[in-house]
Amino acid sequence: MSKKNIVVLVSGGGTNLQSLIESEKKGMFGESRITCVISSKDGVYALERAKKNDIKTRVVKRKDYSDIALYSKALADALTEEKADLAVLAGFLTVFDGQVYERFPNKIINIHPALIPSFCGKGFYGLHVHEAALEKGVKISGATAHFVVPECDAGPIILQKAVEVMENDTPESLQRRIMEEAEWKILPEAVKLFCEDRLTVKNGKTYIKERLS
Ligand code: GAR
Repeated sequence: MSKKNIVVLVSGGGTNLQSLIESEKKGMFGESRITCVISSKDGVYALERAKKNDIKTRVVKRKDYSDIALYSKALADALTEEKADLAVLAGFLTVFDGQVYERFPNKIINIHPALIPSFCGKGFYGLHVHEAALEKGVKISGATAHFVVPECDAGPIILQKAVEVMENDTPESLQRRIMEEAEWKILPEAVKLFCEDRLTVKNGKTYIKERLS
């Protein structure tokens, strides 16, 4: 298991970032470290969380670039400058194009707050995902950790965890339960598996190697 630089990309409150920070502190990632947090917005609380933990921060804002190609290049350049071995989209809600993926194939992990292929793709982010799940009346939702490919939310699935939907749920209560019971568990677990070199992708599917003990 080699030492890896983990760069976490955020856009908001950063509770998933916090779960990664706690997991690193517990030793879950071995020698690997969260070396930088990149935000798509100024002033978000995720940046404070990084600073409190002495993690370098950068801001790469969509509105500083005239089109998505230039924005994506800036993002990929930032990941290259940070010598990222793994990029983690932890509530990163700004769209980028295929060039980031091409420079970091099977090296970008995203957490999505639903059981893919349900409630995913364009427009399904943050609370919208939970609004759609409640609108449909599903009894079970959850979260998915997956590798990123150019098509939105379509990459190889690494881990999923189901969470029960309650009749009196609001989008906010469902979001919170899915974070607590699923996202904050499977995202660190997926990062751990990556750091341990236990993930392989073949024909669009992820395979998890057994731990050698
Ligand atoms: C999380 O629920 C994450 O799954 C979701 O945004 C939230 C960010 O919360 N991501 C997406 O919807 C991506 N399509 P956080 O900033 O507290 O981690």
